[in-house]
Amino acid sequence: MKIAIASDHAGFEMKEFAKNFLQDSGYDVLDLGTNDCSSVDYPSFANKMAEAILGGKADAGVLVCGTGIGISIRANRHKGIRAALLYSDEVAEMAKKHNNANVIVFGGRTMNKEDVARRIKIFFATEFEGGRHQKRIDMLDY
Ligand code: RB5
Repeated sequence: MKIAIASDHAGFEMKEFAKNFLQDSGYDVLDLGTNDCSSVDYPSFANKMAEAILGGKADAGVLVCGTGIGISIRANRHKGIRAALLYSDEVAEMAKKHNNANVIVFGGRTMNKEDVARRIKIFFATEFEGGRHQKRIDMLDY
């Protein structure tokens, strides 16, 4: 499974952490930037992520900005992207089970590394339940 990862400057450090965690867990990671802590605009990195997923260059994605909010908003404006901000372990599980999220999002300034690593693990270890949830997902992109 190929996982794309991207962040703005406020999420850079957490992105690097998540990238290493994913690689150590055996995933193939496509890093879409940013590449340092210089100020950049988070919508551009949400757009890069959407292009990678919708263009078939990655199977899933991880996005990080300061709070995870701005980058989620932009990512979710792309038809076909289901970006979920994983603010708890329960949400990490439900984002896959019920929403089949294809992008997971973290706040680099609002979450700690231990929580982020655990939620990445929970999300990718969980299966989508399908059934009635698939019908609802089909209704998202009308
Ligand atoms: C950047 O300062 C910050 O606004 C951004 O990373 C994010 O938190 C926006 O939602």
